[in-house]
Amino acid sequence: MSGESKTVIPEKREWDAASYDKKHSFVWKYGTEVVELLAARKGERILDLGCGTGHLTHQIALSGAEVIGLDRSSEMIEQARKAYPQITFVLGDGYDFRFDEPFEAVFSNAALHWMTRPGAVADCISRALKPGGRLVAEFGGKGNLHRLHAAVKTAMSSLGYPVGEELDLWYFPRISEYATLLEKRRLEVTYAVLFDRPTALEGGDNGLREWLETFTSNFLARLTGDERPQFFKQVEAELRPVLFRDGTWFADYRRIRVVAVRD
Ligand code: BEZ
Repeated sequence: MSGESKTVIPEKREWDAASYDKKHSFVWKYGTEVVELLAARKGERILDLGCGTGHLTHQIALSGAEVIGLDRSSEMIEQARKAYPQITFVLGDGYDFRFDEPFEAVFSNAALHWMTRPGAVADCISRALKPGGRLVAEFGGKGNLHRLHAAVKTAMSSLGYPVGEELDLWYFPRISEYATLLEKRRLEVTYAVLFDRPTALEGGDNGLREWLETFTSNFLARLTGDERPQFFKQVEAELRPVLFRDGTWFADYRRIRVVAVRD
């Protein structure tokens, strides 16, 4: 057990963009359905909020729309600029962004659950949209990673770490909760769905460990070198009977998909 405080876990800000792209490409590949829902049109001005390494920003740009990608990770932005130099990517904060020109649409895939002050994010989205402009987003909904998160908490607890709110690092709302939040900000919800999407992880037997290393690195950083193998072993042992099938780990993802229109 580490001697320093076990209670303060910072929000995840920095990412290993190369490993994110190499080992977890399913994140943006699943997002192509959300791009279809966006149905971008030539000439539309669109913001990709939490654009990561820019693959979906690029897909949107293929429609002829004028897309800007925004992310708060400098590593992600750097990688996106290298891969798609013709697209504008800006380093920015989902809680506090502002553009001079409004957008026809704000798009977001697998990013909003990282922003645990959703009201501040929705304020920015509402301000960024033209009247009649749309938000099209998908992220983790109520019940997302339910088993995985519980196993992580159990393992952290058995290593002596507190597992209260300090390990609730994500925002996974119900439809009613998120719709209310948007409607308070002049965003009328026209479509919303919550659905299970068990997701195969890359990496075979190492898939869960690699997922944990990437997506829970902010609190894994608290574990000592001795604690880490014990942590992985315990999480894998608890989840193997329910999330491992035919040589592949599955994350128990549950998505909320939303379209809302600015009045
Ligand atoms: C997701 O639902 O995509 C997700 C949520 C939290 C951590 C990692 C991934």
